[in-house]
Amino acid sequence: MATEAEEIRGIGHSVRRKEDDRLIRGRGNFIDDVTLPGMLHMAILRSPFAHATIKGIDTSRAGALPGVIAVVTGELMAQHNLAWMPTLSYDTQAVLATDKVRFQGQEVAAVIATDAYIAKDALELIDVDYEPLEPIVTPQRALEGDAPVIRTDKEDQKDNHIYHWEAGDADATKAAFDGADVVVSLDTHYPRSHPAPVETCGCVADIDPATGQATIYMTTQAPHLIRTVFALVAGLPEENIRIISPDLGGGFGNKVPVYPGYVVATAASLLLGHPVKWIEDRTENLISTGFARDFHMHGEMALSKDGQMKGLRVSLLADEGAFHADAQPTKFKVGLFHIVTGSYDMPAAHVSADGAYTNKAPGGVAYRCSFRVTEASYMIERLVQNAAGELGMDPAELRRKNFIPKDAFPYQSITGFEYDSGDYHAAMDLALEKVGYEKLRKEQAKARKQGRLLGIGLASFTEVVGAGPHKDYDILGIKMNDGAELRIHPTGKAILKISCKTQGQGHETTFAQIVASEIGIQPEDVKVQHGDTDNTPYGLGTYASRSTPTVGAATAMVSRKIREKGRKLAAHLLEVSEDDVEFEKGRYFVKGAPENAKTIGEVAFAAYTNFPDGMEAGLEDVAYYDPPNLTFPFGTYAVVVEVDEETGVWKVDRVVAVDDCGVRINPMIVEGQIHGGLAEGFAIAAMEQITFDEDGNCIGSNFTDYLIPTAWETPKFELGETVTPSPHHPIGAKGVGESATVGSPAAFVNAVIDALWHLGVRNIDMPLTSGKVWEAIQAAKGA
Ligand code: CDP
Repeated sequence: MATEAEEIRGIGHSVRRKEDDRLIRGRGNFIDDVTLPGMLHMAILRSPFAHATIKGIDTSRAGALPGVIAVVTGELMAQHNLAWMPTLSYDTQAVLATDKVRFQGQEVAAVIATDAYIAKDALELIDVDYEPLEPIVTPQRALEGDAPVIRTDKEDQKDNHIYHWEAGDADATKAAFDGADVVVSLDTHYPRSHPAPVETCGCVADIDPATGQATIYMTTQAPHLIRTVFALVAGLPEENIRIISPDLGGGFGNKVPVYPGYVVATAASLLLGHPVKWIEDRTENLISTGFARDFHMHGEMALSKDGQMKGLRVSLLADEGAFHADAQPTKFKVGLFHIVTGSYDMPAAHVSADGAYTNKAPGGVAYRCSFRVTEASYMIERLVQNAAGELGMDPAELRRKNFIPKDAFPYQSITGFEYDSGDYHAAMDLALEKVGYEKLRKEQAKARKQGRLLGIGLASFTEVVGAGPHKDYDILGIKMNDGAELRIHPTGKAILKISCKTQGQGHETTFAQIVASEIGIQPEDVKVQHGDTDNTPYGLGTYASRSTPTVGAATAMVSRKIREKGRKLAAHLLEVSEDDVEFEKGRYFVKGAPENAKTIGEVAFAAYTNFPDGMEAGLEDVAYYDPPNLTFPFGTYAVVVEVDEETGVWKVDRVVAVDDCGVRINPMIVEGQIHGGLAEGFAIAAMEQITFDEDGNCIGSNFTDYLIPTAWETPKFELGETVTPSPHHPIGAKGVGESATVGSPAAFVNAVIDALWHLGVRNIDMPLTSGKVWEAIQAAKGA
């Protein structure tokens, strides 16, 4: 609690993370730390084939291994109506395969044993008779007339096409293109990547046979949503399901979906009457859990010859894998990709998207991304770079000319978004100033004369986070609103229960800071609880940088409810009318007599000891927040690289990142988020990609093949900020967690393309490995 003289360390303070003390002492409680009496262990047998018919499964040898308690197959799951489960995109996914396997790594059977090693050993004793089928490893092949149908389980599915979706106005866009001086086009593939959190997925399912109570410890970013899905899928009464998401070692979108392992472990616990633990290994995580991206995109921009943008047309083909499992709002088939007009005042735009089944793992998770905004941001920022090149204009100048002007907010985009606030010119100007743009351009010209390939890449992204307003946003029909419950104890200490689930973002600190600013209790006196569905209000979880825009707002709103009740109590204590009481920085005081005051602590004590007649005792409340709009953080990233012409190796010299996420609750945590996001953005641009061979084998099933950057490869980051508050968020904050992953890949690629433009290189698909860069240089020279 704040004393009168003490400054309240609320919004705007770089308070050190409360959770770190516990975590750095090794006192975290991660999923594999959960051990229950009588607990059994589960391991999953996965398909070695990408596409094959299952002709038979013989579990007798495995079942006979000492220590094995049960072997579960799809047939057994089917007897309980659990062989298939719904995905977050209204598709179905096999829990354990019954008819066919549809991707390498698909779940085929599970062994439950007295220890994890016996369970793993027993997998080798399960005999599966597979008849291989043609594997489909590209969405283009999937859509050919003679391609085998992957989803033969779905009666109405006669081919591999999943959806067609459009946004914008095709006719108006055609007219804009017909009247344009210049049309720039780009074909690119945003590669399949994987969030690869340091902790893999897992669960401990504990169903009490006597009471029917199901307590499931699970690595999930969305515990409440999972509880409801479990109730619907397993038919268990929802009040008997308790999902506990303990400390998470990262998520980045990977821990949003329901994976078959969770369902099988729960079914096994139900059938065996014992707790069952399942922990994925690294390879299982990389080959079978939610991947990200995998969009084949074609983009075209129409411009006048003086650089005025006239129209944008984008079509894409999404490789969805074997089951359509994207976690995204029901209404939008490719998430929020239609924000593809980005930071520009685009008079006409049209987007069309198709999705196809392939023999790859399902996913489409938003890896540190708001429902496909990453792919959209990449497309527009790459097109702007190439348009500048074609027009012979400076890319900063082209951006400046077409940015949505500051006074045009709230801005109605042509594809249906209302951007809340922005000042794109200010963010870019600051980035240019910090990087020393003009000087760099001169250095670049000089370097070129010396045969050195220096490149400067910009990306001025606009993000869209905080899903979302109930009229447009739901997952499986459940509206995307979130809650916060605040209880102030008699001694003035508080407990805040939130519906989102932290996975390293520092919510235990930042949400306490919101309470601190709103009612004046120091953040260390506000305990923040999350991740346990029995003890927190309902909400849709933490992903897509939505926690601050939704739960942050709910926290401010519940604090304000408490503050109002506090005003009544203060009036009673100060013996004045409620209208005569003012509140500031944790103190209620009499108007015109600031020395006549009561602290929030005194008021809290009175709520339990000395409240007026007719008032309910206690000081607690709950608020659910339905955001009136999304929030639109933005920024400009500037990257300087040097490319070695002989080898294609490129080195990052500078990364300047200017972000605007509105009001910053904790500037230090925001900077940490941006550093992490930039590291992941760099990784995607430079090295991370999940590929498949022609048989559908996943190349990238371990960290030797799937390259994630270490501190050695990761460049140094220089940060800057502008602050344009969100006008509709109670504290003016916008989300920030994913901004840098969304915005930065284009800046890295633009820098390399800028270095090579004069050689004739127009595009290199990510990741820009030195081999690919070298090949592009050779191809341009040979052209
Ligand atoms: O949903 P997620 O927590 O991943 O993303 P976020 O809402 O962008 O928040 C990431 C972290 O940055 C949280 O601890 C936020 O409270 C903090 N943050 C902040 O301090 N100020 C902002 N304007 C936005 C986020």
